Amino acid sequence: MVVKFDLIAATCENMGIGKNKDLPWRLKSEMAFFTRMTSETSDQNKKNVVLMGRKTWDSIPAKFKPLAGRINFILSRSKLDVQNYKDCYSFNSLQEVIDKLENEKFKDVYENVWVIGGSYIYEETMKSKYFHRLYLTRIMKHFECDTFFPKMNDNLREIRDSRVPEDVQEENGIKFVYHIYENPDFNK
Ligand SMILES: NC(=O)c1ccc[n+]([C@@H]2O[C@H](COP(=O)([O-])OP(=O)(O)OC[C@H]3O[C@@H](n4cnc5c(N)ncnc54)[C@H](OP(=O)(O)O)[C@@H]3O)[C@@H](O)[C@H]2O)c1
Repeated sequence: MVVKFDLIAATCENMGIGKNKDLPWRLKSEMAFFTRMTSETSDQNKKNVVLMGRKTWDSIPAKFKPLAGRINFILSRSKLDVQNYKDCYSFNSLQEVIDKLENEKFKDVYENVWVIGGSYIYEETMKSKYFHRLYLTRIMKHFECDTFFPKMNDNLREIRDSRVPEDVQEENGIKFVYHIYENPDFNK
């Protein structure tokens, strides 16, 4: 099995993803979509990995930590104390993450790897040869943000996925659309 990164993010019109260490919006149905996509596996004996930066980890409320039903991977330059959390690992570099994902024993345990932010982790994984797809929710509204999604490569191809609704979604008067972009260079 080749390591494969699927990114999942939500951006507003100005490509913002965060504000004051939190999401700039509250969209329950979009959050439910995130949970479903990152949790679903075809093999009931396996879980998905969710890979995130330390600040994204910090932004998760204590009662939702670690993200349930998924194997939580956190990138930090410090050694994080995550031993008390089930299915939770910390890594000092993306290379360490890849080494773990390529470990023969660990390969039996996980199915997909979802990169869930923030900025740096999206940027590094999109630059890597393991970048497969970006599941991007485009929120059709401007929000003030202090953290932004990195520049996307021009060669990405928009595709469809039967698990993802194609029509415009709406919650609390805020419209948004789920897009999927595929890296044509993946696995070449
Ligand atoms: N809209 C969305 O889809 C979405 C998704 C995720 C997050 N967010 C939002 O985005 C914000 C957080 O994102 P962020 O971009 O500020 O931070 P982040 O990427 O979550 O975390 C940054 C941290 O990751 C670690 N890191 C970065 N580069 C590293 C490297 N090369 N090696 C090892 N560790 C490294 C460092 O941790 P240390 O400082 O511990 O060394 C760094 O401070 C929050 O507002 C959050 O709510 C939004």
